[in-house]
Amino acid sequence: MAVNAAEQRTFRHLPGYFNARQQAELLLHIKDILEIAPLFQPVMPRTGKAFSVRMSNCGPLGWVSDKERGYRYQPTHPVTEEAWPAMPKLLLDLWLREARYPAPPEACLINLYQEGAKMGAHQDRDEADFSAPVVSVSLGDAAVFHVGGRKRTDPKVRVTLKSGDVLLLEGESRLAYHGIDRVIAGSSELLARCGFAEGGRMNLTLRRVTGVG
Ligand code: SIN
Ligand code: FE2
Repeated sequence: MAVNAAEQRTFRHLPGYFNARQQAELLLHIKDILEIAPLFQPVMPRTGKAFSVRMSNCGPLGWVSDKERGYRYQPTHPVTEEAWPAMPKLLLDLWLREARYPAPPEACLINLYQEGAKMGAHQDRDEADFSAPVVSVSLGDAAVFHVGGRKRTDPKVRVTLKSGDVLLLEGESRLAYHGIDRVIAGSSELLARCGFAEGGRMNLTLRRVTGVG
């Protein structure tokens, strides 16, 4: 219990990190990225059950999941087999300022939440060096995010993530179970205004995959 409380305290929530203009700029960059690296539907290893989010990536590596080969990072899109597009500078700058890690991020996952999509409790543990944080950016509709401890059964705290918020899982919280309980549909117009007709929520997570040296 004491350990769990410490794990939870080490996540860092930076509300309103990006202003409205920066949020729109970021989303327009993501739109361009999705023209080159279209959204795809990841499925769970073994069961083949589809995630409720659709996703893509930018940066040198991207996270993918399929029934046969499971969770992994790879340098190419699973459908087009092309290299992932580069990460927008706004995201590289965010990492430089906030990650407290001596090397740049290698992957940025792009998750699109529409039509009741959510994300079950999981740990981010497909990376080599857990001293690098996972840095997340929320755009569009607000969402209820939960963070627990390193055991699935540890108690959770809940945080509402709004458009422009940044959240870092770092230190003791790096391996904490976390997920999205629900998205508050219609709480932001950002996605609809930027060309995602159905609206929804976009989450970007920056990760260092290979460690340093
Ligand atoms: C994730 O943990 O993969 C996504 C978190 C979020 O959507 O805020
Ligand atoms: Fe995650």
